[in-house]
Amino acid sequence: MAGFQEPPIKKAKNDRTVDLSANTSQAPTQPSPSQAANGHTKARDGLGSFQNLKHKTPSKGTPQKTKNPEHLRNLLAQRHALPIFPARARLLEELRKNNTVIIIGETGSGKTTQIPQYIHEERLDRKGGICVTQPRRVAAISIAKRVAEEMDTNLGGLVGYSVRFEEAVCPATKVKYVTDGMLLREAISDPLLTRYSWILLDEAHERTINTDVLFGIVKDAQKTRRSLPGHDPLRLLIMSATMDVDHFSQYFGNCPVLYVEGRQHPIEMFYAKKQQEDYVMAAMTTVFQIHREAPPQHDILLFLTGQEEIDSVTTNLRQIAKDGSLAECPRLRVLSLYAALPAHQQLDVFRATAEGERKVIVSTNIAETSITIPGIRYVIDCGRAKVRTYHPGSGFDALKVKKISQAQAWQRAGRAGREASGSCYRAYTRAEFDAMNVNPTPEILRSNLASVMLQLLAMGIKNVVTFDFIDKPSAELLEAAIVQLSFLDAVVIKSDSLELTEAGRKMAQFPLEPRYAKVILSGPEHGCTEEEQAANARRKFTSVEGDHITLLKVFRAFKAAKKNKMWCHENFLNFRNLLYATEVRKQLVQVCERCGVALTSCQQKTDSVRRCLATGLFTSVAELQLDGKYLTLDTKQEAALHPTSALFGGKPAYVLFTELVQTGKAYMHLNSIVDPQWLHDIAPEYFRRKHVKR
Ligand code: CDP
Ligand code: MG
Repeated sequence: MAGFQEPPIKKAKNDRTVDLSANTSQAPTQPSPSQAANGHTKARDGLGSFQNLKHKTPSKGTPQKTKNPEHLRNLLAQRHALPIFPARARLLEELRKNNTVIIIGETGSGKTTQIPQYIHEERLDRKGGICVTQPRRVAAISIAKRVAEEMDTNLGGLVGYSVRFEEAVCPATKVKYVTDGMLLREAISDPLLTRYSWILLDEAHERTINTDVLFGIVKDAQKTRRSLPGHDPLRLLIMSATMDVDHFSQYFGNCPVLYVEGRQHPIEMFYAKKQQEDYVMAAMTTVFQIHREAPPQHDILLFLTGQEEIDSVTTNLRQIAKDGSLAECPRLRVLSLYAALPAHQQLDVFRATAEGERKVIVSTNIAETSITIPGIRYVIDCGRAKVRTYHPGSGFDALKVKKISQAQAWQRAGRAGREASGSCYRAYTRAEFDAMNVNPTPEILRSNLASVMLQLLAMGIKNVVTFDFIDKPSAELLEAAIVQLSFLDAVVIKSDSLELTEAGRKMAQFPLEPRYAKVILSGPEHGCTEEEQAANARRKFTSVEGDHITLLKVFRAFKAAKKNKMWCHENFLNFRNLLYATEVRKQLVQVCERCGVALTSCQQKTDSVRRCLATGLFTSVAELQLDGKYLTLDTKQEAALHPTSALFGGKPAYVLFTELVQTGKAYMHLNSIVDPQWLHDIAPEYFRRKHVKR
């Protein structure tokens, strides 16, 4: 049992470092809820109906929520109790003085929810809006909801969000929470990001590929807007829980770094005494040890690696919880949390625990920093995370369970001390902790860059190789992306630059990876644009032709059943996912219309669909060998059909896979049978070299 150690936050040597916690006495008077509400009503005057507002369309004519004043007072009191609140005046002073500022503060100190409100309350956003990026959809949506509530306004009005395939915004939206991917997409049509006067890049320490690219884009946009007459300055805030401050400050022209002291209660740390063979079992045992001893309403957050693991642990925990020997314990509510979970289920974790109850949240690293779950007093950390790493040499993504970094381990531990003192149980030894990397590797240094490169080209950035990356990806990764894009006919390589083709320009319009966009673009040629969108919309359910056609059949049946909820229930299908698929499809149809792609349907000739799939995914094909195993054609990697595949058990000669994921063994996910002749028709040169028989 060791005492809690402070997270290794490095203080910048930079003399422009400001410790905001130093000035705590002068909390400014904030507008009362009713004053704030009036201001907001004014801001929305005369705006009429809301656009693109899904699910939560407020009734016309009554855009203002009528709130319980007691609830509002309560929310305001909560806002005033946040660690960032005493620093409000100092913070605003710095924001007024500098165009770029870095803000470091513990998770839960109020950065994401409060700073945009402060800027708005002071009307520093008079000219354009405030855009706050988040690496994850669930964070963008849940935070926007919370902020709308705090500002006593309807979500989708003054405060909105925009994530892929779903948004709640209107022309009056001033504070907008978006995924980093969405802002990148916006930059394609508006590289100077002219509709915003403030851009807050949040969770910067996560170093997602999109955030990394945005660093370069916003920096450039800021510079260009400064040099062009008629533009407002672009104000940048980089927000983070922990960060290599010097590296960031240097990149952003030695900008000031502000610290907000978090409110961290002491956390008692426990390490495993010896290395654990089975960390899942170790973690589950710990859950029940805590459950037997801890008072109710002291909730548990368990960090595991991925969806399958989490689902199976959740099921097990629920079963064991029914065991008679636990009858004396509080009632146990077990919840999963991972990115692929439907939004409403993700939001369940925020529901407070009922009296005499305890909740256990089994989560991926999603709960590490981007969201704060109330009630957590115990953290169990398995010390691992599923990490996607792209291997340009072999052309596949390995999704491997890897040790997390020390920085992540401290973030996880910190979740236990948000509201009161807590405990963190590490399912690994002290020595294992010491051997962990200090920081995680930025995603851009380990990802397939095809998508990002296509987007940069579409923004008019000609020389992607010389782009101002904060950390530059290897030449091998850049090269592999160029090769993939040229195979997809998205670019042509001219002496020393890359030129986007007409098809490439269209591909960049789709909120999809270039290879899937290519599949849709090849639709009209095969008479099945409609089907492609369906298959793409929901790539997840079983036909002898493979998984894609299965999905397509499910989707068609859902439509024929008039999107009926009971029908889904009777057929064991997820109603919300299918509705989501309908929404995705609608949006892809819009992109097709914009790009002049004709909508055609191949009806029952579903082999055309598989042919289209092959046009985008032809580098993802495996060939059956004499010994009954599969080898990928692209890199001769051994791979097996995943047990969930419709084709599992059969042995088709050539299978196309949507994803090749290495989890111990390399598994092909979402597969369809392909005809080798098609492959020769699609990419003759490529398949001649691969010696594919016709
Ligand atoms: O960004 P940072 O981690 O510094 O904090 P934040 O996301 O602004 O959250 C500040 C506080 O707001 C949290 O500690 C929660 O108490 C509350 N909050 C909430 O109740 N519900 C949300 N969806 C988001 C935040
Ligand atoms: Mg935050």
